[in-house]
Amino acid sequence: MDDSHRGRITKDGIRIHSPADFAGMRAAGQVAAQILDEVAALIEPGVSTGTLDAFITRRVTELGTTSATIGYKGYQHASCISVNHVVCHGIPGDKKLKDGDILNIDVTVILDGWFGDTSRMYVAGKQSRKAERLIQVTHDSLFEGINAVKPGNTFGDIGHAIQKYAEGNRMSVVRDFCGHGLGRVFHAPPNVLHYGRPGTASVLEEGMFFTIEPMINLGRAETKVLGDDWTAVTRDKSLSAQFEHSIGVTKDGCEIFTLSPAGKFHPT
Ligand code: MF3
Ligand code: CO
Ligand code: CO
Repeated sequence: MDDSHRGRITKDGIRIHSPADFAGMRAAGQVAAQILDEVAALIEPGVSTGTLDAFITRRVTELGTTSATIGYKGYQHASCISVNHVVCHGIPGDKKLKDGDILNIDVTVILDGWFGDTSRMYVAGKQSRKAERLIQVTHDSLFEGINAVKPGNTFGDIGHAIQKYAEGNRMSVVRDFCGHGLGRVFHAPPNVLHYGRPGTASVLEEGMFFTIEPMINLGRAETKVLGDDWTAVTRDKSLSAQFEHSIGVTKDGCEIFTLSPAGKFHPT
């Protein structure tokens, strides 16, 4: 067993990683983020989500990584593409984007055993004012959460920061899905809730790796999963947005492994 498997596990089951592990996550995260940068150029009305996924599948291989989602619990694609009122886990297919559609693309790659998991919002064609506002508030809510990450704070502090910001903008936080620990595994403890009370849940420690991936709705928070057993939608059919970063807790804050190499966040 190599060193990266020897880290301490907290009483809540959260692995504490080493500086070498940060390097592994940085490399994996940067590939996932680069793919999200690149796919931006393809997004326009008339393009199918299957075409976007085919591009992502090709780039995952060309960049020397493997897809974490192909074969995961029977999922068959290198990305989840969630359009308009789809909250998450949208399955790419023949459906073509229409002018004004908003979409989340979520990519997870594996490089040297490390998982890089990130998602962003995109718009096909001309975006409406309310879509633009939803996307901006969702992005900024993720960073409210990220800004709460430092040793000694708790996962409740992260959730509270996100919830306060989203609800303060009259939007709702999805409760049915959450962020997760990751590293040499895709989904590990803890569940990272995007709502909560300050000072509750596990205390953050240097070396913890996890995602924060808030899903924010313009309408109500409730979701349901469609008959394909993957696609989650808002029950009231309101628009939903999501951004996701993979991060590691440092001595005095955190490192974001999946920041865009090109400095983009919702590229057009
Ligand atoms: N990338 C998603 C996450 O953020 C998980 C997708 S699992 C899949 O955790 F099977 F739907 F791809
Ligand atoms: Co994730
Ligand atoms: Co993801």
